[in-house]
Amino acid sequence: MAQRGPIVVYGATGYTGTLVAHELRRRGLDMVLAGRSADKLARLADALGGGVATRAVALDDAAGLRDLLAGAAAAIACAGPFVQHGEPVVRAAAEAGTHYVDTTGEQPFMALVRDRYDAPARRSGAALVPAMGFDYLPGDLLAHLTAQGVEPLRELTLAYAPRNLQPTRGTLRSALGMLAADSVVYEDGGWRPAPRSVPRASFGFPQPLGAQPVMRYPSGELLTVPRHVRTRKVASLITVETFAGTPKAAPLTPLVAPALALALRSPLRRGLEPLLARFPEGPSAAARARVSFTVVAEARGEDGRTRRGVATGGDVYALTAATAVHGAALMAAPGFDRAGFLAPAEAYDATASSTRSPRTASRTSCPTPPDTPKRPIDPPAMGRDVPGRMVGERRAWVIRRHDVGSLGGGACVRAAGRSAG
Ligand SMILES: NC(=O)c1ccc[n+]([C@@H]2O[C@H](COP(=O)([O-])OP(=O)(O)OC[C@H]3O[C@@H](n4cnc5c(N)ncnc54)[C@H](OP(=O)(O)O)[C@@H]3O)[C@@H](O)[C@H]2O)c1
Repeated sequence: MAQRGPIVVYGATGYTGTLVAHELRRRGLDMVLAGRSADKLARLADALGGGVATRAVALDDAAGLRDLLAGAAAAIACAGPFVQHGEPVVRAAAEAGTHYVDTTGEQPFMALVRDRYDAPARRSGAALVPAMGFDYLPGDLLAHLTAQGVEPLRELTLAYAPRNLQPTRGTLRSALGMLAADSVVYEDGGWRPAPRSVPRASFGFPQPLGAQPVMRYPSGELLTVPRHVRTRKVASLITVETFAGTPKAAPLTPLVAPALALALRSPLRRGLEPLLARFPEGPSAAARARVSFTVVAEARGEDGRTRRGVATGGDVYALTAATAVHGAALMAAPGFDRAGFLAPAEAYDATASSTRSPRTASRTSCPTPPDTPKRPIDPPAMGRDVPGRMVGERRAWVIRRHDVGSLGGGACVRAAGRSAG
């Protein structure tokens, strides 16, 4: 893919940043590895086989960060927790007019990017697309595609069911911060502070998962989906088992979560850091291969019609690296002309294939991947699942809208990828 300049990875030396760097190398993209430690960056460049530029710039060096990003076509920020470490990089991108994606899953950070940097980024011409990983790219695109034909909506629900998820140390740090932080819900056509209580509910996932206990989740789609879907409400749910670790402990999670959130807002939180430092940096490739996820989007129209979209997949860390790189590559290509804070579904034409820029993508030219079932897929009736899958193709991750006759006009989110590490 043609590039207007290199792609900078800030926080390249972390678990996710390293996956991102390997993915950029695998795709043959021009990159600069950046972070706070020159030694670590040099070791990573060696591990990639050499010939990769590195730049050590501290987060408190505002001029250095601006200079770093001014020479780049796009930036991928991987230094988290983003509420603590994210702002200097996005500020530099907005000031330098450099397109930006990141791997955050922290809703409060996404709100900060929107509230503080949308206007400067519009002025400089930078597009800012936070959360371009497993959080929350599939959910945002799936919501967009599922809502089509049913809008305006009374409610759009997103429900997550990850299995065998082993967080990295960085994810754990960020998740604990999220639990302690304020978040918002989207109801009655507006954003409101999320209640502290954790109501229990059940959600019907496709088989073999079936009905699962779920709890409210302060996901990023609560911020992004109302930007491109006409809906009065967005709800975000996740299986209780995701946090409980085991099905047996699941019933306790909604009871324990408010107390834990309270503890994390107190000085007790400082005592956690030494414990976190002993946590492994991240899962092995074998552990990542055991991960699976299902994301369901359920759109309820004002007129009572409903429609469902489903995305399934595996290794969420490889997915994060691949989608962040793909998003940055689309931005770094000649012709990308969007600016300001954007949801993924606003930044990228959902019909774009990996070889087309967003402007030239055609709505009906989504190529059929080799593993598409040969039998025709039934047109999705209202109220039934819209076929959507994440399939394992051994090339770059791509997000496309498949809007051809064989799907009966149904939506399909498809991402194909491979482990980048
Ligand atoms: N939402 C998703 O789907 C998803 C997926 C993957 C990751 N993430 C998020 O991405 C972030 C990174 O995760 P990770 O697992 O890669 O964490 P990690 O392994 O702990 O890496 C953190 C990175 O941030 C850098 N960093 C930390 N403090 C810094 C500071 N003060 N100045 C400069 N750089 C600093 C680290 O640099 P050093 O190497 O020099 O310490 C390292 O490069 C987390 O917020 C995580 O939640 C989200």
